[in-house]
Amino acid sequence: MNRISRTEGLHGSLRVPGDKSISHRSVIFASLAEGVSKISGFLDGEDCLRTVEVFRNMGVQIDRTGTTLTIHGKGLKGLKEPEVPLYFGNSGTTARLMSGVLAGLPFFTTTYGDESLSRRPMDRVVAPLREMGASIYGREGAKKLPISFDQSPLRGITYELPVKSAQVKSAVLLGGLFAEGKTTVIEQGRTRNHTETLLPQFGVELTEEDLKVSIDGGQVLTAADVDVPGDISSAAFFLVAAAITRNSDVTIEHVGLNETRNGIVQALDQMGADISYTITDYIGEEPVGDVKVRSSTLEGQTFEGDIISNVIDEIPILALAATQAKGRTIIKDAKELKVKETDRIQAVCDNLNALGASITPTEDGMIIDGGTPLHGAEVSSAGDHRIGMMEAIASLITEGDVSIQQPEAINISYPSFFSDLDQLLVKK
Ligand code: S3P
Repeated sequence: MNRISRTEGLHGSLRVPGDKSISHRSVIFASLAEGVSKISGFLDGEDCLRTVEVFRNMGVQIDRTGTTLTIHGKGLKGLKEPEVPLYFGNSGTTARLMSGVLAGLPFFTTTYGDESLSRRPMDRVVAPLREMGASIYGREGAKKLPISFDQSPLRGITYELPVKSAQVKSAVLLGGLFAEGKTTVIEQGRTRNHTETLLPQFGVELTEEDLKVSIDGGQVLTAADVDVPGDISSAAFFLVAAAITRNSDVTIEHVGLNETRNGIVQALDQMGADISYTITDYIGEEPVGDVKVRSSTLEGQTFEGDIISNVIDEIPILALAATQAKGRTIIKDAKELKVKETDRIQAVCDNLNALGASITPTEDGMIIDGGTPLHGAEVSSAGDHRIGMMEAIASLITEGDVSIQQPEAINISYPSFFSDLDQLLVKK
């Protein structure tokens, strides 16, 4: 249990750990590539380490020194049948993206996850992969883990995504790499595009047109070095912390600012935050820069439609910001929150309301009445890293201490969260 007290403010500059989505993809693409790839700035959180372990179990040599990985890729045809079931832990990204790979491999694999992941829907990836010819078996007709994949040739399909999900898009494209012919995915709206930005670095050609992306099967991946930028989803906790605490001035440096991921910057700006950013560099096609935030007076807003996919992982911390804004904030079109690591609509409402907020859950989001002073209480991450970090940031502004149960969940995406936070806190 962690107990945190109110702060005098946050000051200074910080680099947050590597982007989770790019770290997973780097490991997957480098393992499937021919040759040796070096990944620097890799996120050494539990989720990304699951992806590393999955490939080690299929014969890929991956050496890790801190946040640098050296991956001796095996090519699309060089992986070996694992002798053990593959464990995905809490990682939805590992489960969904690896389904696309495992469906295409010429051997049997069986996969499972922790309690939370075992509750999450897998039919969204299983359905298109079966349409491609995959042999997939699992609990509840393979709607849920554990799930097994048997060898079966895949053929390219055209697939309209029924949900806005970068994981599903990526799983189908990865299946497409192993398939005969062309695979096309059509999205309903833009979701994060790291698969599309990163695959070309490994020599894969994709064609993109509006919301449509196509890949030809059988392309050879060649080793590439990737320098992973900081994770905007991790930075978001400090951006909001600085905006809602008095006497704060924080810069997060070298963070990924891909336009499919910068929704939190847009949302805070829309709420009137004192926020600005500069793009300092490009890593491949990914823009990287510094984001600066000072103590702000926020105003409630309605968030709906296209911005939702761009801010989906940041909604818990955005909700906290909204509790401190003038007026009402409405979040709509965010039903996907119900199938994240927890039901995040419920978890946000339960935990922030326990601290004195006024939030009403709705079918596809929440209504937050702002301007509520928060007070101390005992809350829980409920095993969800982003809920745990949101609670830790909330505790910086509460009258009275907050105790957080299950704080270890934060290690899933941000093992150095508490020490990084401590660096920014103004000491009394
Ligand atoms: C991710 C996509 C998103 C996001 C998750 C990471 C990815 O999930 O919530 O944390 O790396 O592709 P969905 O695809 O389910 O929206």
